[in-house]
Parts: sequence; structure tokens; C-alpha cells
Amino acid sequence: MSTVRTDDTIPNNVDLASDKRLQRALEQWQPSFLSWWREMGPHGFQADEVFLRTAVSVEPDGWAHFDYVKMPDYRWGIFLTEPVAGRTIGFGDDLGKPVWQQVPGEHRNTLRRLIVTQGDTEPASVEQQRLLGLTCPSLYDLRNLFQVNVEEGRHLWAMVYLLHSHFGRDGREEAEALLTRRSGDPDRPRILGAFNQPCDDWLSFFMFTFFTDRDGKYQLLALAESGFDPLARTTRFMLTEEAHHMFVGETGVGRILQRTAELMKLAKGEDVRPLGGIDLPLVQRALNLWYSLSLDLFGGEISSNAASFFASGLKGRAKEESFADHRALEGSYALETVKEGRVAREEVPLRNAMNEVLRDAYVEDCQRGVDKWNRILAEAGVAFTLVLPHRRFHRHIGLYADVSADPRGELLSREEFERRKEEWLPSEADRAYVRSLMTQPVYAPGEMANWIAPPRQGIKGRPADFVYVRRAEA
Ligand SMILES: [Fe+2]
Ligand SMILES: [Fe+2]
Repeated sequence: MSTVRTDDTIPNNVDLASDKRLQRALEQWQPSFLSWWREMGPHGFQADEVFLRTAVSVEPDGWAHFDYVKMPDYRWGIFLTEPVAGRTIGFGDDLGKPVWQQVPGEHRNTLRRLIVTQGDTEPASVEQQRLLGLTCPSLYDLRNLFQVNVEEGRHLWAMVYLLHSHFGRDGREEAEALLTRRSGDPDRPRILGAFNQPCDDWLSFFMFTFFTDRDGKYQLLALAESGFDPLARTTRFMLTEEAHHMFVGETGVGRILQRTAELMKLAKGEDVRPLGGIDLPLVQRALNLWYSLSLDLFGGEISSNAASFFASGLKGRAKEESFADHRALEGSYALETVKEGRVAREEVPLRNAMNEVLRDAYVEDCQRGVDKWNRILAEAGVAFTLVLPHRRFHRHIGLYADVSADPRGELLSREEFERRKEEWLPSEADRAYVRSLMTQPVYAPGEMANWIAPPRQGIKGRPADFVYVRRAEA
């Protein structure tokens, strides 16, 4: 059992103190991280005391320690789940061989790229969300936003630890670069598309945490299978934190639906906008946007990279143990492609379809959440069903990048898509309307903006009117 050191500058359960070089390197990176956090983290709240969950160890009673903390004083630490004795590689060509504690030379570049790509998403989302506190619907939501933000910061630490401890000078340079790219900056953008999109209203934030953080969950599940054991152990612990982010998204959208259903009754079948509600077709358009952007994050449907990640034991399938065949050398995957304007079926070798296999698991998980949203509407007596659009809709990566399709997947001309896209994706007017609802923050304990219902429960047994954030100047 590894001991947890919380008295160190960097809390950790990896015995950092025994590796002075590594400790020094990370202690040198820390001020850069903090200055990034002050510049690009939540704007206007750095002096506030926030009721946050902080990981102080990986034990069940240690990783969810709640207390007031100023965000810059949050104890960003390095936590890996305990090693599994005798763990072997669970898939690919090296199936059954012992996992690696050091990076195998032949996989060094690939592993570094996987870690950097994952690592880049973490600060990116903090940057995307940095102004949301200024328009929060309640102190409860403000606290949840900050919880997500500090944990994404910790996830960056998790990846930087791997870069510093296993990739030498290249790793240190990559760690610096993770702090210099900026979400949405045309000159130095973040690596992946969805992480450069604006996420500047709370409807987007809840859709982002539902759909985009869930992509994160599936990427982490796939990396948690990795034959590179430090990566597997790091991502396993990250998954425990990730669950809360998706809870924020699922319940956030659910509370909007609840409130809209109430307002629909008051509006007697008329538009809810005069009552300050978010109408359901607009919720559907926001869903279409964030779902399709998040589908792109899984990469191309047919991918030789994905095949080689799998073959070499670097990135598996989510819950690899649930599959019967861990080599995946036989069998194929039937994909729908588009050839000369028509949908056709194509069989591809299973390993080349690993991105699609992971995307399948993701889609299924999304559908479960959407079903819960639809139950909220049904129980409120509202005849409206939210649906996930077809995978061909609004894609920018992979087989469908050059295809125009409606949300049902029917192929269209580019002109028709352009003409009709405001039926399916948020328009400028939609965005302006959502922003108009969120011009004022709600900082009074227990109060809630008009467009969203209160949560069913508070955080960690605290009541709804608990002071989740003590405002510095209040
Ligand atoms: Fe994360
Ligand atoms: Fe997350």
C-alpha cells in the first residue's frame, strides 16, 4: 500500500520524495500551472471560498474530502490507483505478457502522443468555461462548475506527471506546451475540435459535461486498459472524478427540462420564451450540436492508428474484459459508408474499426441519459421526445466529414444543409436568446434562475440553500 504524502508541495501517492529529479521538475512546472490557472481559470472567483471535494488519497474515504477552499489553494495532486499484482496486458499482440512499468522504446512516440492528446483536453475545458461563473443560475451550480474546473486541472497534473516521469526532456517540453495552447485561439489552438468551440452559456455547459465529458470517460476507459501500467492506473483514478462531471450535465439538462415543462403549463401550449423558459426545440438543437462535436472526438471510423494502438497494447476497448476475443484478429465490423452519394455497407477488419467500437459504447451510454431526460418530460405530461441525431449528421472527422445529412441521417446536398441548418443546430438568434436569460448571476443562497428547476438534493447532504460558495466581496 503506497503512502499518501499531503504535506509535500505536491500531494501524491507515488512517493515523489524518493525521486528528487522528478520532484524538482514538477515543482518547477507548478508555478507555470498556477499562473495559467490565474490567467485562464474561472474568472473573478479566485478569492472565493468554495465547498469543494478534494482528493487526498485514493481510498474510498480519502478521495472525496469536502471542505471550503480557495481555488488557487486547491491541492492538485498526483494519484494513481493501487497496482494490481501480476497484471498482464489484456489485449492485442502482447496479450498475457506482463504490463510495462517503463515505456517500451518502440512505443514511446505513440504513447506520448496519446498522453498529450488526452492531457490537452483538460486545460482546454477550463478555458472554455472560464466566464460561466459570471452568469451562474445558483450557488449550487457555481460550486459544481468549479468542482469540474479544479478536477480538470488535476487531470492535467495526472498527464503531466506521466510526461515528466517517463518521457524525459520531450515530456517536459510537452508539459510546457500544454500550458501555452489556448482554446479557440486560431494561432495556437487546442488539439481537438470540440475543445476549441465556445462554451459560454449554461445550456452549452450542461450539454458539454453530458456529451463531451462522456467522450472523456470512454477515452479514459480505453486507456485504463493500457499495457503501460502507469497510464492505466492514472486513468482509473481519473474516472472516479469524471463521474461527477457527467452527473452535472445530466442533472443540469434534466432540471432545465423540468422547469420548461412547468412553464409550458403556465404558457398553456404557447411559446415559453415570453415566460423566460428554454423551449424544447432549442434544447434539441443544442443537443445535436454537442453530441455531433463529441462524436468527432473518437476519430475516424476506419483507422490504422486505432488498429496499431490496439495491436501494440496501448489503448484497448472500454471494459476489455467483457469481450470474448482479446486479439481481435478475426472477424470484421460492418460500417455504413457513403459512396457516390449513396449509403453502402463495408466490412472492415475489426482492429481497424476500434474507434467505432468505442463510439458504439459511447452512443449507447448517451442514449441511456437521453432516455432519463425523456422520462422527466413524460412524467410532466409533455409530449416531446429528445433524440440523438444520426451519426452522419454534422460530422467533421471520418467517413462522414464530407457528407451532408439531416439528423435522421438522410443525405442532402450541401446547399440544402446550409439552407436548413438552423432547424437542427443553434442559430445566432438561439444563442442570443439563451444569453439574454443569463445576463445576471444568482448568488443568493437557495435562489435559482427562472429557466432552471432546483436540484433534488444538495451536495454531500447539504441543503439547497447552503452557501456553496462564499463570495469574497459579498
Ligand atoms: Fe478530465
Ligand atoms: Fe471531465
